[in-house]
Amino acid sequence: MTFKSTKSAPPSDIRIEATAARLERGRYIFENLADCAGCHSERDWTKAGAPVIASRTGVGVAFPKELGLPGDVVAPNITPDPTTGIGTWTDGEKIRAIRAGISKDGRALFPFMPYQGYRRMSDEDAQSLVVYLNVLPPVKNAVARTKLNFPVNLLIKDAPQPVTGPVQAPDSSNAVQHGEYLVNLGGCQDCHTQQEKGAPKEGMMLAGGFEFRVGQYTVLSANITPEMETGLGSWSEQRFLDKFRGYAATTAATAPQVNQANFTLMPWTNLAQLTDQDLKAIYAFLRTVKPVKNAVEPHKPLTQP
Ligand code: HEC
Ligand code: HEC
Repeated sequence: MTFKSTKSAPPSDIRIEATAARLERGRYIFENLADCAGCHSERDWTKAGAPVIASRTGVGVAFPKELGLPGDVVAPNITPDPTTGIGTWTDGEKIRAIRAGISKDGRALFPFMPYQGYRRMSDEDAQSLVVYLNVLPPVKNAVARTKLNFPVNLLIKDAPQPVTGPVQAPDSSNAVQHGEYLVNLGGCQDCHTQQEKGAPKEGMMLAGGFEFRVGQYTVLSANITPEMETGLGSWSEQRFLDKFRGYAATTAATAPQVNQANFTLMPWTNLAQLTDQDLKAIYAFLRTVKPVKNAVEPHKPLTQP
C-alpha cells in the first residue's frame, strides 16, 4: 500500500549549479558526516566496521531482519541510474525526499531514513549533497520497495513535513550551535538513544544502550552524555579527538576481520575524517547535554535468546 501525502507540495524545479565547493561539501556530508553511504550501500560485513564496498556505493540494500525493524526495510538505489536509481528525478525531488521524506511518487518514506533530522539541513548543504549524488557512478541494481508491517505502514503517512522557506545553518563560529547542527546531521542521537515503540526513550537522550544485532554479532551504543562515571564526562577534548583520529588511517583494505569484540556500527572511519573544527564543535555540544547515568558495555556478548 502506498500513500499520496496530501502535504507533498510540488518540489521546486530548481537546477543546482555544480561548483567545486559544493561537490566537496556534498562528498563530505555523504561519505563522512551523515554517512548516507553507510545505509545506502553494500558493505563488507566480514570486516570490523563493515566498510562500504566502493563499487557498490549508493546501490541500495535491504536491512538485516535481526535489526528488528517493523517490516522489510530497504534503502533504495540512489545512484543516477535511470531505471533502478534516481536518475530521472529532478534536483528538487531529491531535496524533497531528503528533507521532507516524500519519494518521487508522493509516497511517505519510513523515517528510519533520518529525514526528520535532515529537515534542518541548510539549503546550501542540501544542494551540495544533490550535486554529489548527481556524480555518483550510476549502477543498475534493482532493489525491492520497503514493505512495512501494519499498523506502522499507516502511522508513518503523517511523518513527512514540508520544508517551507529558507533553511540556514547556524553560524559556525558558535561551537555549541555548530556542534548541535552536526550532531543532528550525523544522526548521533538516532543510534545513541534507546527507543521505546520507535520513539526516543524519555530522559535517555544520547545515553547509549541501543542494541544492534547483525548476523551473530551484537553491540550496544555508548553513553555519550557528559556524565562522569558512565559517559564522556571525564573525556578531555583531546581524548575525544584522539579517539576518532585513531581510525583515520583505517581503510576497507586494512580493516581487521570482524569478531564480537570489535563489531560496531559506529561509523568511526567516516567520522575520523571530519575536520578539527567540526569534531571540536561536536565535543562542545555534547558537553552541554543532560548528563545521564547509564552504564553500558558495548561489546559484552549478550546471552543468546
Ligand atoms: C539510517 C539509514 C539511512 C541513512 C543514514 C540515510 N538513508 Fe536515505 N533512506 C533510507 C531508507 C531505509 C530509505 C527508504 C525508506 C522507505 O522506503 O520508506 C531511504 C530513502 C532515501 C531516498 C528516497 C529514494 C526513493 O527511491 O524513494 C533518498 C533520495 C535518500 N534516502 C537519500 C539519502 C541521503 C542523501 C542520505 C544522507 C544525507 C541518506 N539517505 C541517509 C535509509 C537511510
Ligand atoms: C549507526 C549507529 C551510530 C551512529 C550514527 C553514531 N554512533 Fe557512536 N557509537 C555507536 C556504537 C554501537 C558505539 C559503541 C561501540 C564502539 O565504540 O564502536 C559507539 C561509540 C561511540 C563513542 C565511544 C564512546 C566510548 O565510551 O568509548 C563515541 C565518542 C561516539 N560513539 C560518538 C558518536 C558521535 C559524536 C556520533 C555522531 C557524529 C555518533 N557516535 C554516531 C553507534 C553509532
